[in-house]
Amino acid sequence: MSDEGTKWVKEKDGIYWPTEKMKEKAFVSDPEIYKEAKENPKKFWEQKAKELIDWFVEDWDEIQKWDPPFFKWFEGGKTNLSYNCVDRHIEDKKNKPAIVWEPEPVDEEQRILTYGDLHEEVQKFANVLKELGVEKGDAVTFWMPMIPETAIAALACQRIGAWHSIVYTAFSPEAVRKRMDDAGSDILITADGFYRRGKVVELKDNINEALDKVGADKCLVVNRADADPEMVDGRDHFLEDVKDGVEASCEPEELDAEDIGFLLYTSGTTGKPKGVKHSVGGYLVQAALTMKWVFDFHEDDMFFSTADIGWITGHTYTLYGPLIHGGTTLWYEGSPDHPNLERWWEIIEENEVNQFYTAPTALRMLIKHGKDLPDKYDLSTLRVLGSVGEPIDPETWQWYFEKVGGGRCPIVDTYWQTETGGILLTSLPGMGPFVPGVAGVPLPPVNYDILDKDGEPVDKGAVVIKKPFSPGMLRGVYKNPDKYKEEYWSRYGDRIYFSGDEGIKTEYEVGGQRLLKIVGRMDDLLEVAGHRLGTAEIEDAVQMVDEVAEVAVVGKPHDVKGEVPALFTILVDGAEPSEELKKKIVKSVRQEVGPVATPGEIFFVEECPETESGKVIRRFLRSLLEDEELGDMRTAKNPDCLRDLAEKVGYEGPQDIPDYNC
Ligand code: WT7
Repeated sequence: MSDEGTKWVKEKDGIYWPTEKMKEKAFVSDPEIYKEAKENPKKFWEQKAKELIDWFVEDWDEIQKWDPPFFKWFEGGKTNLSYNCVDRHIEDKKNKPAIVWEPEPVDEEQRILTYGDLHEEVQKFANVLKELGVEKGDAVTFWMPMIPETAIAALACQRIGAWHSIVYTAFSPEAVRKRMDDAGSDILITADGFYRRGKVVELKDNINEALDKVGADKCLVVNRADADPEMVDGRDHFLEDVKDGVEASCEPEELDAEDIGFLLYTSGTTGKPKGVKHSVGGYLVQAALTMKWVFDFHEDDMFFSTADIGWITGHTYTLYGPLIHGGTTLWYEGSPDHPNLERWWEIIEENEVNQFYTAPTALRMLIKHGKDLPDKYDLSTLRVLGSVGEPIDPETWQWYFEKVGGGRCPIVDTYWQTETGGILLTSLPGMGPFVPGVAGVPLPPVNYDILDKDGEPVDKGAVVIKKPFSPGMLRGVYKNPDKYKEEYWSRYGDRIYFSGDEGIKTEYEVGGQRLLKIVGRMDDLLEVAGHRLGTAEIEDAVQMVDEVAEVAVVGKPHDVKGEVPALFTILVDGAEPSEELKKKIVKSVRQEVGPVATPGEIFFVEECPETESGKVIRRFLRSLLEDEELGDMRTAKNPDCLRDLAEKVGYEGPQDIPDYNC
């Protein structure tokens, strides 16, 4: 064990253990907790629910009900997220900053919202929503940037029991329309625009057509960038106008723990995105516990998560987690490279940030273009660093650890998903061990396993989550219970949750469990810059181009983004490959899905390898792009096409591709 001053020391090749100092400060430092929690999981969660959350009633009917694959937690218990994030801190933290907002333009002042401000603003916003006809159980869609009003609006929805359904601003208006349609949502909250890389990105003016198409009743617009958008009489309202004169008081709705807290759309393996349903109570408990234990979050801490509100990380840790504990969350509006690549380090120094949470893709970009820049800043207030969204490679890990953390801070490599609501698996700051590239073990008392395709435990295979589960898991797919069963609870029966990821049980151990390394998705989902995208949605968008007959999308490795969408496109007879056509395809993807899905590579091909039944064998396409062994090519009915493909993609892998003459 190491305790050389405040520096962490490697124990043996590549493993780091917490210093004595970290162990003393951390909320949990004894690995016995893993065993204890498993002995009585219900009691564990009951105790956490009571300790971390305020409830309006004494008790619930039952801690957990399980009717596989459906769960209920704390049903009968009444609570409210907005109450837990705001009201309960009012008495002793009225003047304490809840949200510190850093606008992108450097000459613009920071905005600080104290708990007192938040209390007032959230109630007003809740009354604005009511005035616009929003009621408990209504879905309210957001296409909102990282500005304080987004936090206020989300908390206002929670206050009255409306469900926010937040769509990332780098998704297209068409993507917003589809999600509004699926959720039956007839109100959108957006902004006129926001700043990104020094320019105003317009939102309202871009969304008008989609609003018409979906037949939206109301659109509430926050003025952020003086973009002077077009407004439709009767439908569109500026927040400032409606807020004027509304009452400043609105009591939080006493919601059942099992009421829906929010919807969040995420890509599935097939078809259109699905609306993941999260509950009020279970989600709150999981958000609260993981925030506290994983980040060792103390109430005086300043937390900086770079995750946009459009993703689950933005929900749970940029917004709710720090506020549940009466802490301070730092919101940054813009891009990490504006005005230069020092922006994040400068923000950390100036605001004395204690925990920093980001994605490996951003770190790789910062390493590539400015690996020594953190040296210029005093980052000594940092105590815990977090990574999320994709595996962090050991080189990036080392750089993060040394350059950003000064060799003092544990890196919590947090593995979880939109569906799990909160972090599921990581090494904990006071316990470790920390192994670059290895995520860790599940939070107590959750169990994981690695299974082969027959359901037998193995060292490398499918990552599954097993009983006892955590209360924050999704409650279903909105209006689609079959999809819920099919995606998560069918591969290994209805009692084992299939994550879709591949993992490896490593030799390292803590609390009687082996640390898990996450390899990546086993299915057709892409993780582009840490953002989950469905190949099906991108394929549909490409297919809309007249010249395209067929297309297969797979991930191509990328040194910064992890992977980018690569398109294998077959054209209709008579159509010719051209740069123009490539542009047309890119345009269609950006229009239908959004800039986030912009293709990284477009190959025009004659044929794709297919099974006898005509299904494209993506495994071959991926191996070609990754310069890997292809294996037995005769599993394709048309193996000869692989030669042409290998040439097109510039395959330099180890395997010769023979002529099959068939
Ligand atoms: C997928 C979930 C969890 C919030 C961000 C993404 C991948 C997530 C890690 C990690 C390796 C990771 C998985 C997972 N992933 N965290 N620490 N190491 N992979 O949420 O969009 O729902 O995507 O992200 O593949 O299944 P999401």
